[in-house]
This record gives sequence, structure tokens and C-alpha cells, in this order.
Amino acid sequence: MNLKKFDSESELVDRIVSTIKQVIKNKPDAVLCFACGETPRPVMNRLVELRNAGVVDFSRVRLLGLDEWIGVDRSTNGSCAQMLYDDFFTPMRFREDQISIFNGLSECLNNEISRMNQIVSELGIDFVLLGIGLNGHIGLNEPNFNPKRNANIVDLSEITQKVMTKYFDKSVHISKGITLGFKQLLKAKKIILMATGERKSEIVKEVVESEPSITIPATLLKERKDVLFMVDKEAGKMV
Ligand code: F6R
Repeated sequence: MNLKKFDSESELVDRIVSTIKQVIKNKPDAVLCFACGETPRPVMNRLVELRNAGVVDFSRVRLLGLDEWIGVDRSTNGSCAQMLYDDFFTPMRFREDQISIFNGLSECLNNEISRMNQIVSELGIDFVLLGIGLNGHIGLNEPNFNPKRNANIVDLSEITQKVMTKYFDKSVHISKGITLGFKQLLKAKKIILMATGERKSEIVKEVVESEPSITIPATLLKERKDVLFMVDKEAGKMV
């Protein structure tokens, strides 16, 4: 894993966007996987600008959603689907056939797991943009997870259940999530882990200074030397 510190979020976003442009230039039907939430939003906004300027042809890319809270779907503000659609998929005018995400309201979550596993094994992942939780989670792979798994259902940690309330405009009782697994993520051709803002500075330090361990999921990304851990000045202030 390579740590890259940027003086501003904007420079960091520029770098990620250029990487994505390059990925699509090399492979117009690239498979791109995105975390939802606050961190990737500025990248998504910049990609929307590029799309509107007609600079990059996104018409053949495929999009994968990384995870979802169980018990909600796109109709609930704060679901991963809602954030991905509103922040990214809709303004990018992606077609439905380009998009594959988990349905957290499915009556058969095992089917959701099989469906997403099949898509990932057939298409692979060319690029994944990850964010990091305050406890080091990646996607919803929480501390003490099983890194050998593909997509799976997880119990959300206490801290995640507390932090996730920031996404919702009403109170929700969600204790489980569904997420792509580390086995799949580590096979992605290009992996960027992004962290911005001071509130991420402690976990950034922990990840940088710790040996790979399931207690801090992000540290297992160190298994891949080419993973880029991109942080802005605030998130990187302790490293
Ligand atoms: C969400 C996801 C999570 C978030 C992490 C940080 O799809 O993968 O791991 O990336 O919880 O969330 P924000 O960016 O909102 O601080």
C-alpha cells in the first residue's frame, strides 16, 4: 500500500479522476466499483462535470455498488442505493443495464449475494474507489471479519450503527449490512482507498502504523503493494 498525501481535497480528487479517465481510456467497458457516502462524493461530482462536458465517454462502463444496509432500498434517503443514484448514477445518466447494486430490501438476500458474486466473477473489477470507516471498515467489512469471503451479510459494529445515522433523515434500526468481500476487492485491477477530513486522521494513522490484521480491515489492503491510500492534508495530519 502506498500512502499519498495531498495538500487539498481538490488535488486528491483531480488525481483520482485522472486515474479513472485513464482506466476508461484503456478499457471503454471498464467495471468501476464505488463506495457511497461523503468521501467519494467530490469525485462523483467531478466525473459528472466531465460527462456533461463530453470529455469522457462513459456509455460502456459498468458500475458496481459496494454495499448496502439491510432493510432499506433506494426509496429510503440514506441507503447506499439512494446516495449512489442521486450523487452519481442519475446525474451521469447511466442506463440501468450499466448498474449492479445490492437490494437491501430483497426477500432473499442469499440471491442478492449470488447475483453480485456472479457479476463480479464474470466481469471482474477494473477499478474500485473505497472509503474508510472510523473503525477501519472497508465497504461493510467490519473489524474481525473473514477476509476470505466474497459478498456476504455482516453484523454492523456499534460504531458503524452510530455513525450511519448521519446518512438518514429519520431514525432507522439497522443492524446488518450486505457487502462485497475482501476476496473480491483484492482482485480488483486498481484499488484506491480515499480518506478526507480531520475526523479520519486517527484511523489513517492506525492503518499506516499497524501490521495487517482483521481487527482493522483496511490494513489488509497492505497485502497489495499497489493499493493507493490517498489522503488530504487533514486526514493525513498524523502521518
Ligand atoms: C460505503 C462504504 C463505507 C464508507 C465509510 C466512510 O459504501 O463503503 O466503508 O466508505 O464508512 O464513509 P464516509 O465516506 O461517509 O465517511
